[in-house]
Amino acid sequence: MGRGRRRLAPQEIEIEELGKGGSGLGRASDGRWVQVKPAPPGARVAVIPHGRKRDVWLARRAHLVRPAPEHAAPRCAVFGLCGGCALQELTLSAQRRARQAAALRDVAQGLGWTVARLREQVVIHPVEGTDQAYGYRNKVELSFAPRRFLSEADHQRGLPIGGRFLGFHAPGRFDRVVDAQRCELIDEAANALLGTLRRAILHHDDQPLWDARAQRGVWRHALLRRGEATGEHLVGLYTTSDASAEAVERVAQQLLGTPLGEATLRGVVWILNDGVADVARGEIARVWGEATLTERLRGVSFQLSVHSFFQTNTAGAEVLVSAVERALQGAGGTLLDLYCGIGSLGLALAPGFERVIGVEEIEAAVADARVNAARAGVEGEWRAARVEHVIGELAPLLSGTSIVVDPPRVGLHPKVARAIAQATAPRLVYVACKPGSLGRDAAILAEGGWRLEELYPVDLFPHTGHIELVGRFSRA
Ligand SMILES: C[S@@+](CC[C@H](N)C(=O)[O-])C[C@H]1O[C@@H](n2cnc3c(N)ncnc32)[C@H](O)[C@@H]1O
Repeated sequence: MGRGRRRLAPQEIEIEELGKGGSGLGRASDGRWVQVKPAPPGARVAVIPHGRKRDVWLARRAHLVRPAPEHAAPRCAVFGLCGGCALQELTLSAQRRARQAAALRDVAQGLGWTVARLREQVVIHPVEGTDQAYGYRNKVELSFAPRRFLSEADHQRGLPIGGRFLGFHAPGRFDRVVDAQRCELIDEAANALLGTLRRAILHHDDQPLWDARAQRGVWRHALLRRGEATGEHLVGLYTTSDASAEAVERVAQQLLGTPLGEATLRGVVWILNDGVADVARGEIARVWGEATLTERLRGVSFQLSVHSFFQTNTAGAEVLVSAVERALQGAGGTLLDLYCGIGSLGLALAPGFERVIGVEEIEAAVADARVNAARAGVEGEWRAARVEHVIGELAPLLSGTSIVVDPPRVGLHPKVARAIAQATAPRLVYVACKPGSLGRDAAILAEGGWRLEELYPVDLFPHTGHIELVGRFSRA
């Protein structure tokens, strides 16, 4: 706690709305907000404040005093510890209402408006998404560690911190993982592969796990990826170059022999990473089977390698594409897909257009986009560049095309926002993973005469604090 700052006593609070990263916000006895996680809106929780960031108290949840009216039982065994799926204690519909409210608050803040004004001037559609609240992720990245993060209760029971673990980094703990026997967000076949990894590496291998404090060890990460529409799986195994090739071979063979029901394991990719950064990246050392799998979105096939970017919820992405399509209102002509990744939006929408022009900074993603476009017979052009570097050249095009932008969380580069603000394009659709960025950019676009007309919220990540927003703009 900062110097001169009063401590706040443990107390009970009513959770009123969602804060950052799926946390809950309630009022403390001194009138300030308290941020606590997990804590769903509508619940009453006992909190132990441990710090303050600007005007918001940060607190740990001691216990749930009263569940929210639309309570649901969390399915995950490490709920509350892992930090990933904080809203499991709410029904999906209550989660969606809470997340929509938080997203609108952030958009309004970005625009410098009140939420009431936003609701008055913009058509806000109900949240859309699939009914699949669990098992929806098509990719998950796990970390190996020789230390685990324990709950208060397990600490009291004297469970050891040291050992061999595989799971998810606890929030703010670079050196420990929350040990995960399974993950409820991935499907049963991926969980079977996780079980094999645990048996083969944690229990039947003795090479050291990566120790992030000492920066040494062998086993670092495992990546499980699948094509939801095809049932094809791929596993990435990340080690340092100290790994024994025979040991990795043994693990790969056990993975390939794992019964997966209807699903198939296309391949196991061994990747070497000797760097200090704790990321699942590196050079491919060996592949057993294939290095790619196929996924389908709107009937378009995408070839994905372990590191290609793809929306992590394929069925949810179908809903997102439909929302973008409705927002485009059957424009036709040329579609400019800015921040296109491997072209998933542009290619899925291509049947409604004569051609697609995509711009994306990652060369490998652009190469994938070209291959996918050629296979799908889509007329177009895919450019590897930062949008802000080429927006000047694209300016003459901007007037005659429909524009879809799907920027990263930071939103549009100011140069891009200003260039689009001046464009007389027939349609502009903004896909936002961070609602506040859309709000801020909408204010810049408004200076050039673009009005935010409609917002379509899409739920791609049940149980988290995220909601994707599709914004339709039109020229005033
Ligand atoms: C939210 S993703 C959208 C990807 C794609 N539309 C999809 O649905 O799969 C944002 C993409 O923007 C790319 N990106 C980030 N900054 C960029 C920039 N300045 N210029 C071009 N691309 C950028 C990222 O690599 C990423 O692929």
